[in-house]
Amino acid sequence: MQSNLVLIGMPGSGKTKLSYALSQSLGLLAVDTDIMVEVAAGKPIPQIFAEDGEQAFRDLESEAVRQASALEGAVIATGGGVVLRPENMEALRETGIVFFRDRSLSAIAAEDHSGRPLVGDNPERLKTLYAQRAPLYRKYAHHIVAHTDTLEEAAQIISDIYQEECQK
Ligand code: S3P
Repeated sequence: MQSNLVLIGMPGSGKTKLSYALSQSLGLLAVDTDIMVEVAAGKPIPQIFAEDGEQAFRDLESEAVRQASALEGAVIATGGGVVLRPENMEALRETGIVFFRDRSLSAIAAEDHSGRPLVGDNPERLKTLYAQRAPLYRKYAHHIVAHTDTLEEAAQIISDIYQEECQK
């Protein structure tokens, strides 16, 4: 059974873009739990938060994680808050190799966060989120990818480790 390749990290750390790059270079299917949640809910994430609340979003996210974890050899991009529920991470770690891209906060802050209800237009929120979550990202990652200047460099590092692990 081929392991999944799981990407965790802060909102704006480039998980989705990385998943596309890795899916192309490794020839694997890419899935994104945020997109799975939006499809299941039939509406975009900001609307789910506004109309149904964060807990409803987290429940949908846990279901998306359960489904994604059942795949084989997929690249799975996750939402930044996936680490908040231990059961999510147990499921993802069970069938996948988990990578935390620890991109610098200044690079993350320069991204567009308008579609992210927990960050929005307040970059200070990013610092608080990072302080709360960095220990969780570190705890649940099999591999931590330190800041790289480009996404391509991060993709190369992750791809090399993944291929090496799959050969073991
Ligand atoms: C969230 C991050 C978002 C999305 C939702 C909640 C979070 O995903 O799942 O808005 O709690 O950090 P990205 O990390 O892809 O922005």
